Amino acid sequence: MKTLIATAQLQREIDSLAAISENPSPVVTRVLFSEADLRGRAFVKKLCRRAGLAWREDAVGNIFARWEGADKSLPPVATGSHIDAIPNAGKYDGVVGVLGALEAIRALKKSGFRPKRSIDLVIFTAEEPTRFGIGCLGSRLLGGVLPAGKAATLKDRDGKSLETWRKQAGCRGGLSSVRLPKNGYSAFIELHIEQGPILEKENISIGIVEKIAAPSTLRLQLTGVGGHAGALLMPNRHDAGLAGAEISLAVEQAALHSGSPDTVGTTGIFKIEPGAVNSVPYRAHLEIDLRDTNLKTRNAALKQVEKSAHEVCKRRGVKLKLVRLNVDPPAICDAGLVKMISGICRAQKISCKKMISRAYHDSLFMAQICPITMIFIPCRKGYSHRPDEYSSPGQIEKGVRVLAQTLAAISS
Ligand code: GLV
Ligand code: MN
Ligand code: MN
Repeated sequence: MKTLIATAQLQREIDSLAAISENPSPVVTRVLFSEADLRGRAFVKKLCRRAGLAWREDAVGNIFARWEGADKSLPPVATGSHIDAIPNAGKYDGVVGVLGALEAIRALKKSGFRPKRSIDLVIFTAEEPTRFGIGCLGSRLLGGVLPAGKAATLKDRDGKSLETWRKQAGCRGGLSSVRLPKNGYSAFIELHIEQGPILEKENISIGIVEKIAAPSTLRLQLTGVGGHAGALLMPNRHDAGLAGAEISLAVEQAALHSGSPDTVGTTGIFKIEPGAVNSVPYRAHLEIDLRDTNLKTRNAALKQVEKSAHEVCKRRGVKLKLVRLNVDPPAICDAGLVKMISGICRAQKISCKKMISRAYHDSLFMAQICPITMIFIPCRKGYSHRPDEYSSPGQIEKGVRVLAQTLAAISS
């Protein structure tokens, strides 16, 4: 089957969505349920409607746009990604998997293809952890990994709860209704930029994901003793900022010496109070991201970081509150799907290689309910989570083409 991808139209849609941002171009910021996020959702829903897809929205705001298949008794197939964006992001992360999937569906429709299984385009709520500290909020609930009761206790930094945010955004129903049954989908395929340099370096058009690395996140609140920067002598200090700095260095050491080259540790949030140059920090707020493809070394590094945090705080007379926000296992992709997509690439004369995803994705949690894999496309220098993130229209076109062929194969 020949699918003609409307590359220029897709690029215009990607650009239009990028313009819906909390910050001026080229920066894209769309934090969950912000005004920009709500406008972004409305934009995508409008495009889905135009493409003839009926959509529904669940209690946490996951959007499901459906192309009805001929046999409604069969579990549908699903594709999709996210449109929320961390502060100071670019325009391709997540978006290629949403608007690209929409274009794949439109191209299949135009080609005359009619699916036997329905095809759902899923736009997941909050793949990014910005508002509530926990990534993949929508897919965690869908996959049953985050219990509804626990989700209901989530609060943002200003103390505003998920319950309040989602109701304000117009989400109806209880969070327990979000969970999908096991095998409720027959497969889930996510198109995404690689967010790493390998495909570009090796001049390969498509990455087919075999495994998604295991992420974890810690939140630490350190409470020391503040005081006058001139008057409080050094031996008498309990500086929460310095305790945080030492812990950040311990994160680096734990990742460097885990024994696995794939362990990465980042203290991505580090805030001190009161934040005055002539005042000793009495409080520090840290959020730490620790990942690995290998669960054993990730868990050992995580324990090492926690041990160091306790040691540092004890030695410095600083009170520590440490919460594990998430500690997830890796996901193994379906070998049959990986093989099928390799075959599609071969048939399309598109170069491909199997690879690992070091970033997490909604696929990590969709793996709880159905077979999954991901289709990666190159991005310039591997840049992501920054405004100069870039994939060319030609690279996107190939990804969409492979996705379209895959959706056709698994839905017929
Ligand atoms: C997802 O955005 C991640 O941080 O891997
Ligand atoms: Mn991201
Ligand atoms: Mn993403």
